[in-house]
Amino acid sequence: MKMTDPVKSFVKNNSGNAAIFQELNIDFCCGGDVSLQTACEEKGLKIDEVYQRLMAVESPANDEKDISGLSPEELTTHLESTHHVYLKEALPRLTALMEKVYQAHGARHPELKALQGVVGNLRADLEPHLLKEERVLFPLIRELACDFSGAKMGAAEGPIRVMRHEHDEAGKLLKQLRTLANDYVAPDDGCQSFQLLYSELKKLEEDTHLHIHKENNILFPSVLGGN
Ligand SMILES: [Fe+2]
Ligand SMILES: [Fe+2]
Repeated sequence: MKMTDPVKSFVKNNSGNAAIFQELNIDFCCGGDVSLQTACEEKGLKIDEVYQRLMAVESPANDEKDISGLSPEELTTHLESTHHVYLKEALPRLTALMEKVYQAHGARHPELKALQGVVGNLRADLEPHLLKEERVLFPLIRELACDFSGAKMGAAEGPIRVMRHEHDEAGKLLKQLRTLANDYVAPDDGCQSFQLLYSELKKLEEDTHLHIHKENNILFPSVLGGN
């Protein structure tokens, strides 16, 4: 790996690097085409230090390690059984938790109202997005795997373009969420539910970034024959 390589390729090469980019607030999923060098310059980070940290990370020993060997159709199953399952459980739970914290702290923390709006928008975007992938794009990808002539390959282009656009929109909402939630540092006067909400929102961001990275930077290029 070189410092001029795109950010996304560092995570593609070693998914353990996702945690470092999360910590440094460097976008590796929707904006992952920029080079590591440029990303560090934009954030005012020392490129040598970041590069060394990335290189020192060992590949994770969990299931993340194995996805590079998966075929596109196996990847769709992996995405559904991990990230999609997580979101379907987490989004309604976070909506309820958000309401609870708003009721308790809304008067002193007006930012919670705006935060609630963004969580609502994210849910309204992501729930139908998951269904479109599960009902349209992923079955199509599984079908394409059996189309050895390659004649139907172009059929996935349109749906993939739409999914990429929706990922960009979700990425923007996640950025708003982080800003409104003060980088997920709960205020000192926040109760346990407040702390829990912020740690859960942080997890939502982490999981969704990894989810979008796997689709944008691994699955889609493998279907369309890109890099
Ligand atoms: Fe997905
Ligand atoms: Fe997606």
